[in-house]
Amino acid sequence: MIKPLRKAVLPVAGLGTRFLPATKATAKEMLPVVDKPLIEYAVDEARAAGIEQFCLVTGRGKTALVEHFDIAYELEATLRERGKHRELKELRANHLPPGAVTTVRQQEPLGLGHAIWCARAFIGEDPFAILLPDDLVLADTPCTKQLADAYHETGGCVIAVTEVPRAHTSRYGILDVGRDDGRLVEVRGLVEKPKPEAAPSNLSIIGRYVLLPQVIAELARMERGAGGEVQLTDAMARLIGHVPFHGLRFEGRRFDCGDKVGFLEAQIAFALKRPDMAPAVRAFLKTYVNDGVGAA
Ligand code: UTP
Repeated sequence: MIKPLRKAVLPVAGLGTRFLPATKATAKEMLPVVDKPLIEYAVDEARAAGIEQFCLVTGRGKTALVEHFDIAYELEATLRERGKHRELKELRANHLPPGAVTTVRQQEPLGLGHAIWCARAFIGEDPFAILLPDDLVLADTPCTKQLADAYHETGGCVIAVTEVPRAHTSRYGILDVGRDDGRLVEVRGLVEKPKPEAAPSNLSIIGRYVLLPQVIAELARMERGAGGEVQLTDAMARLIGHVPFHGLRFEGRRFDCGDKVGFLEAQIAFALKRPDMAPAVRAFLKTYVNDGVGAA
């Protein structure tokens, strides 16, 4: 029997060095795209896939991330007094049921694999989703929902994948591809950050996964991989052949918000989706592109 998918782990304990100094005292996952922090996009996406329990893997200086899911009574009272009903409604939409969020600490950023292993008591014997909040996906059907559907189809691990330029394979986890129906791809192997000449394909993992709990035993070996970190990709690779394992070419566009250019692109793409902002944004973009405003 395929167990229902109700849990998600959101690792947010990284240092965010690519965004210093912005991330010196603030978590990268609290940076907003338009007017919503990255963490809230991830939680909303997970809820839309039927996730009910959330585990944030946090570290030093990440308290704002947890507080973001508290009820801000004073703020709500002030908004009510001032008649700001729309703002109040939006704030309330992000209330999670009592007990839905738990946190565990990763005392040292030893890698994504280590962060997930820190959530082992939360995961227990259940399947779970992982969302890396710095990957943002703009899609008609939320990416995690697409993965959840594929999990129910296959009963095994499913990871979201996308084509990347071959020259960029050394930035990502890359798939060795078996049977491929254009949507679901059988995963034959996984390699973390291979050089372009050694990469088995140009199909890359993005920050969305649905995994079986067996991955925890593999992570517990604490083997260091690329960059000296405990890599999730290496632990997943050891499950191949033991459980069904597929990549899903998800529908939608992914933005790597851990990267400055990707983050800027996400701002523009999400602003252009907003009817209240799109005309003004389109107009100023034209002045930059057509008239060379701001060109060096
Ligand atoms: P990144 O590889 O983007 O690392 O982590 P980072 O530290 O956040 O950012 P840079 O590279 O220094 O700029 C991918 C995801 O894994 C989490 C991060 O918080 C992010 O969501 N992570 C990474 C951890 O929780 N713990 C770790 O030890 C490493």
